[in-house]
Amino acid sequence: MRRKMVVGNWKMHGSLVQNESLLSALKSGAAQLSHVDIAVCAPFPYLAQLQQQLSASSVKWGAQDVHQLEKGAFTGEVSAAMLADFGCTYVIVGHSERRSIYGEDSRLVAEKFSAAQQAGLIPILCVGETLQQRESGETEAVVAEQLDAVIALVGVQALRKAVVAYEPVWAIGTGKTASPDQAQSVHAFIRQRVAGHDEQVAQGLVILYGGSVKAANAPELFAKADIDGGLIGGAALVAEEFLGICRAGQ
Ligand code: G3P
Repeated sequence: MRRKMVVGNWKMHGSLVQNESLLSALKSGAAQLSHVDIAVCAPFPYLAQLQQQLSASSVKWGAQDVHQLEKGAFTGEVSAAMLADFGCTYVIVGHSERRSIYGEDSRLVAEKFSAAQQAGLIPILCVGETLQQRESGETEAVVAEQLDAVIALVGVQALRKAVVAYEPVWAIGTGKTASPDQAQSVHAFIRQRVAGHDEQVAQGLVILYGGSVKAANAPELFAKADIDGGLIGGAALVAEEFLGICRAGQ
């Protein structure tokens, strides 16, 4: 049985003061929810705050990106070992905003995935199609290419210690959620694709859905067989909304 999981992706939002109250609300809310795994992925400067405020709670934390190499002259970059130093459990790799705004391709994302695991972090691999790709019937091909690049580099067994997040680009921050059936069909496709390599890995793989998830639509989405929780953007910035989503996973 896979446990449900809800991860907040704060993106480039927050301040010490705002985070303080958000995190204390999450901490006490999460204490009532023992059947769902909860995490938040914050901007780099706030990792110390997460470590300080969350270390005595069940809420785990992580970052939103990582460099693919261990160290070196890469001004502005952050390595996986540095994230591990701050007590991160997770790191998001291949978010569509990284792929589209910063031109990260699937090979680079796979290298980041590998670097994260080598430092002992759990990568949350994001995959998903644009509206244009969906409309031209390319959803499965796009998702397959993004997934296969990781399996080709690190092998399917690496997915035992990873999370996959299906985030249709057209549903991110737009208020347009994929219908539970639309999401389920891509989640099932991802699981089948992994099962083509190893059935056991596929059955254990946590696959999150991301894209305009709210407390109101989470129960329907999370009720689907292959949807194991959510990767939450906007709604993760509002404690009651985020906790409402977490309750749907309980
Ligand atoms: O990674 C989370 C994400 O991209 C979804 O964002 O604001 O649509 O929940 P949002």
